[in-house]
Amino acid sequence: MQAAAIVVRRSGRRVALVPTMGALHEGHAALMRKAREQGAVVVVSVYVNPTQFGPQEGFKQYPRDLDADARLCEREKVDAVFAPSDDEMYPGGVQATEFVEENVLARRLEGERRPGHFRGVCTVVAKLFNIVQPDIALFGQKDYQQLKVVQRMVRDLRFPIEVVPVPTVREADGLALSSRNQRLSTAERAEATVLWKALGIAHDLFNEGERNVHQLETAMSRAVELAPSARLDYAQIVDAESLEPVNDVQRGNIALIAAHVGKVRLIDNLIL
Ligand code: PAJ
Repeated sequence: MQAAAIVVRRSGRRVALVPTMGALHEGHAALMRKAREQGAVVVVSVYVNPTQFGPQEGFKQYPRDLDADARLCEREKVDAVFAPSDDEMYPGGVQATEFVEENVLARRLEGERRPGHFRGVCTVVAKLFNIVQPDIALFGQKDYQQLKVVQRMVRDLRFPIEVVPVPTVREADGLALSSRNQRLSTAERAEATVLWKALGIAHDLFNEGERNVHQLETAMSRAVELAPSARLDYAQIVDAESLEPVNDVQRGNIALIAAHVGKVRLIDNLIL
């Protein structure tokens, strides 16, 4: 992969990387299309990264279907799929250079609930960057904190890579596409729209002039709790760059929600 990427770059063409864990859906396809639009040679990596899963987070159960993933990549005219084994990414298990760790943005929100998650993400993304040597890397706004953490790592470590954000792709009823949605029962699937509804409520209240963070966060919490199978993890409004809490909510702040629906943990967000 690295040798091939170097040949492409020497020929003067740009390389775009779309890092994924497979179980590809239309959200991933949107990243591929955006990569294609940049006129780059498009590489999709498919790798379920063990280091970003907590002990109870279902690494073993994560859906794996490389044939289906390859078909979607073919349909999207992707130039190369890079699907390494664990032994290629982490030869002999734990590495001497164990982790790449961003320690400011990664501590908040998801990082507080999923210790070690973002250092797993940063470690694998740094490795993928060095293997694929992309000029551009595309990340979905669905995982907003991940996008910000990766942008920060790119800046701190001087990766000569442009990180391109891609808007969240949603079902008709607003539910953000996710490989985890497959695990929802029919009833849970119907209730899973509460995350998007709660974000919409915060957005509407904000547009009507509400600026009190407590009022807006409470309105979101209440909306999520209306669904019997939903259990709120957090509903917060923060600064969209620093991810720090805000007191007076301003245009451009971001509302983020995490909630369990049944056994499935879902996240979503919306910039106000
Ligand atoms: P994965 O969950 O497969 O997501 C891969 C990319 O697709 C991420 O950038 C994610 O934000 C984006 N994505 C997922 N659902 C989306 C949606 N509905 N709309 C738009 N984009 C969406 O995120 C990971 O994998 C991993 O952490 C990874 C970055 C590959 C590192 O292992």
